Amino acid sequence: MKPASAERAAIDRAMAAFTDRVEYSFFVVTTASSPRDISGCLAGFVTQCSIRPPRFLICISKVNHTYFVAERAEGVVLHILGRDQTELASLFGGHTGDNFAKFQHCHWSPGTTGAPVLSDCAAWIECLILERFDVGDHQALLARPVAGDGGQCQGVLTSHTLPPLEPGHPVA
Ligand SMILES: Cc1cc2nc3c(=O)[nH]c(=O)nc-3n(C[C@H](O)[C@H](O)[C@H](O)COP(=O)(O)O)c2cc1C
Repeated sequence: MKPASAERAAIDRAMAAFTDRVEYSFFVVTTASSPRDISGCLAGFVTQCSIRPPRFLICISKVNHTYFVAERAEGVVLHILGRDQTELASLFGGHTGDNFAKFQHCHWSPGTTGAPVLSDCAAWIECLILERFDVGDHQALLARPVAGDGGQCQGVLTSHTLPPLEPGHPVA
C-alpha cells in the first residue's frame, strides 16, 4: 500500500490533470447582511443544479470575508463576467474584504436582498439563499433566483481565458 503522502501527491496530480481540462465561467458573487455589511468574491465553484424549480449551488471558502457576510445574508447576486473583465476579476478574486474596500472601486446598486448588483457585467441573477451545506473547506449555498438581467459586457471570462490570479484570501 502507498504511504498516505504518496497517495495524496498522486491524487493532487490526477486532480490537476483533470480540472485543467474543464473550462468553466467565473462569477462575482456578492452578498449583504446589512447596508454597511457587504462583501463579494470571485468564484468558479458555481453551478445551476435544477431546472424546475430553477436552483444554483454556490460554494464559498470558509475563510473568505464573503463567507462570514453570507452566513447572515438573505441572498446573493451572481454576476457573469464579460471576456475583457479581467480587472473586475482581479478586484474580487485578488483582494479580500478583510482589509480592502472592493465596492469603493466599482459601480453598483443594492438588489432586492440588499446584495450589490454590479453595473458592469455580462449578466446577473439575484437569488435567495434556501439552504447552507458543509462541503469540505467550502460551504455550499442552495439558491433560488428572484431577479436578474443581461449586462453590457460581451463574451464570457472563463478559466481558460483569465490570466493567472493569486486568490486574495489565503486558501484554508
Ligand atoms: C480563479 C479563482 C477562482 C476562485 N474560485 C473561488 C470559489 O469558487 N469560491 C470561493 O469561495 N473563492 C474562490 N476564489 C477565491 C476568492 O475569490 C479570493 O480569495 C477572494 O480574494 C476572497 O475575497 P473575500 O475574502 O473578500 O471574500 C477564487 C479565486 C480565484 C483567483
